[in-house]
Amino acid sequence: KNIVILISGRGSNMQAIVDAQIAGARIAAVISNKADAEGLAWARERGIATASLNHKDFDGREAFDAALAGLIDAYAPDLVVLAGFMRILTPGFVGHYENRLLNIHPSLLPAFTGLHTHERAIAEGVKFAGCTVHFVTAELDHGPIVAQAVVPVRDDDDAAALAARILVEEHRLYPQAVADFVADRLTISGQRVLRRS
Ligand code: GRF
Repeated sequence: KNIVILISGRGSNMQAIVDAQIAGARIAAVISNKADAEGLAWARERGIATASLNHKDFDGREAFDAALAGLIDAYAPDLVVLAGFMRILTPGFVGHYENRLLNIHPSLLPAFTGLHTHERAIAEGVKFAGCTVHFVTAELDHGPIVAQAVVPVRDDDDAAALAARILVEEHRLYPQAVADFVADRLTISGQRVLRRS
């Protein structure tokens, strides 16, 4: 299956997915909204097709998303993976990739949607945090949940320490979820995702 990965920065989740060498998966392209994203250089060095599209060159989200979809669709993806892609996507874009668009969010959804999840988790005093892989729907960070991983929150954690502990789990969880999708093990049933082993 053809996979297109969207990033905005470092791209460590993208690297984990590439390095997992998932059977039946071909990383067709890595696309960024930032031309200088570190992850783009990493992918290019490995011979993966890369592209970037600056959202600032477009007049509004609709125009950017339409151009982005055009770029993505040139690679005929079976799956589009958001990996630290820091743009909110329009309902039109999300609908176009319905049931074939995944995201990872560094919280145990539905808690702590949006930005600054680690700061907020610590401020709220939760004892466990984690990450969630979910299908993307029009409502931010609310789509059907594919997989979650849990980590403890320690008394001396700051946001950076908690983020680092969660990131280790992200790098394990995301390639596994992509592998499950590629192997057709996932079935969406309403808000639930059922996984066949
Ligand atoms: C990850 O923590 C991801 O969950 C969040 O942004 C971060 C991206 O990191 N959405 P990377 O670019 O994959 O290294």
